[in-house]
Amino acid sequence: MSKDVNRRAFMNAAGIAAATGLVVPSALAADEAVKPADKVLIIGVACSPRKGKTTATAVQTALDAAKAVNSSIETHLIDLGGMVFSGMNASGEFGEDDFQRFVLPKLREPKPAGLIIGSPVYFRNFSSTCMAFLERLAVLRKPSLLLAGIPMGVLTVGAYRNGGQELVISQIQAAMLCHEAVIVGGKPGAHQGATLWNNYNDDITKDEFGIDTAKKLGIRVAEAALKLA
Ligand SMILES: Cc1cc2nc3c(=O)[nH]c(=O)nc-3n(C[C@H](O)[C@H](O)[C@H](O)COP(=O)(O)O)c2cc1C
Repeated sequence: MSKDVNRRAFMNAAGIAAATGLVVPSALAADEAVKPADKVLIIGVACSPRKGKTTATAVQTALDAAKAVNSSIETHLIDLGGMVFSGMNASGEFGEDDFQRFVLPKLREPKPAGLIIGSPVYFRNFSSTCMAFLERLAVLRKPSLLLAGIPMGVLTVGAYRNGGQELVISQIQAAMLCHEAVIVGGKPGAHQGATLWNNYNDDITKDEFGIDTAKKLGIRVAEAALKLA
């Protein structure tokens, strides 16, 4: 029996037990399939058109905090900066571009247990790089929802302390609901997600509050990934 089937069987049994007041059979409750997987992969995606800049630094900060939560956690940063790919179209057909070459394979195999999406704030919205990324994720909805049930947190970086970061978080979260991802925020102080500002000079390192929210987001995504893995 596959781990997925085992886990589903446990969840079903637990759900029925909760509804009827029955005790879950101990053999099923002790099923090793409900323990966290050996390796729990959390992928961070930095959606700035600029490689290695403030968004990538912030996402890496969140990933580092996630990794520190448990030795089973592995992280991987996908920095979209400099990559060339377009958004989705209704035919769903694409040639070889950077999304097909570099992004899609990383998201498909091994399947991530958690996802952190970071975008710069562009006019109170997310970047066009982020829009193209979110649209292209549509391929992961078929034949089955690959990202369903995966905890997903959002991080944003703006030039202003209140430049629209929380708006952008909501917009990305709304898009990810189409994947049935499990939307999570951060630990207290970062309940909606991580909100950073670049101190007007491409530098988030002096933004202690924002860095703290990035860490709290990483920790929360890691905790949720461990529970759901
Ligand atoms: C077209 C454009 C629009 C922007 N709009 C906003 C904005 O509405 N609010 C804000 O706080 N910062 C805004 N910014 C600043 C960026 O969010 C900020 O420079 C961010 O750190 C860039 O991320 P990166 O360093 O990863 O490229 C804008 C930048 C650009 C290029």
